[in-house]
Amino acid sequence: MNQKPWNKIAVLGATSDMAIAFCHFVAKHGISLILIARNKEKLEKIAKDINIRYNVSVETVLFDVEKDDPTILVKKISEPIDVFISFVGYLGNQSKAQSDPKEVDKIVKINYQMPAIITELLLEKIKQSTSNKRMIVGISSVAGDRGRQSNYFYGSAKAAYSAYLSGLRNRLFKEKIHVLTVKPGFVYTSMTQDLNLPPLLTAQPEEVAKDIYKAMLKQKDVLYTKWFWKYIMLIIKYLPEFLFKRLSL
Ligand SMILES: NC(=O)c1ccc[n+]([C@@H]2O[C@H](COP(=O)([O-])OP(=O)(O)OC[C@H]3O[C@@H](n4cnc5c(N)ncnc54)[C@H](OP(=O)(O)O)[C@@H]3O)[C@@H](O)[C@H]2O)c1
Repeated sequence: MNQKPWNKIAVLGATSDMAIAFCHFVAKHGISLILIARNKEKLEKIAKDINIRYNVSVETVLFDVEKDDPTILVKKISEPIDVFISFVGYLGNQSKAQSDPKEVDKIVKINYQMPAIITELLLEKIKQSTSNKRMIVGISSVAGDRGRQSNYFYGSAKAAYSAYLSGLRNRLFKEKIHVLTVKPGFVYTSMTQDLNLPPLLTAQPEEVAKDIYKAMLKQKDVLYTKWFWKYIMLIIKYLPEFLFKRLSL
């Protein structure tokens, strides 16, 4: 019989469409979950559904990334966790952010500042785990690879988050705690429901969930999903600035 790689995974932003697909995928493998999100009704519905379908333990913790105190969140998690994964994110309104400091604050807080702070505080729970595959997974974005006029506030917050995860990976290497940075391209979720996404380039949340799980098993450092985004971003990253600044991206 296959031994499961992890016993308990804590998921921040558990009501995200990508997170729901991921939670179903891991619960199918018999892994217990701690689901953290701000919407009580949605959270309990997701938890109940997963518990009934896969017969795994699913705890819920209510937490609003914008308003609540992260030190209280950590106190609510009593047991060691093998993996912490953050899906929390906010696309924001680029044109509003250009004249409204509060919108900038919200974009930075949800996409970078709070996921980083919570990760640091939860580290003690990960260090207590006896798993030989202790891990932190952060969902960043290809948008963080190069700033574009259409969403550079969101992109720069994700760039900060990617840089944070890179530094953390470097710091925790010797302690055998792995850090995986996930950079999705376009994905059909509630975040992108109003956008006209190109079908050939856009993934379903279930595809992303499977890619993340496989990358976790392989202990990859950085995952682009779908896979071809690695090459698209390679071109975008290395386009010379004198050309890039002329494009309407
Ligand atoms: N969809 C894409 O094309 C795409 C591409 C690249 C990267 N990403 C990233 O992928 C991750 C998952 O996003 P998604 O596409 O699955 O979108 P989503 O369904 O909109 O998920 C966003 C998650 O963030 C949570 N959140 C937002 N503000 C919060 C707050 N103040 N307190 C607590 N939770 C808050 C949402 O909670 P509620 O359910 O309560 O709103 C939801 O769980 C995000 O980090 C996103 O930036 C998405």
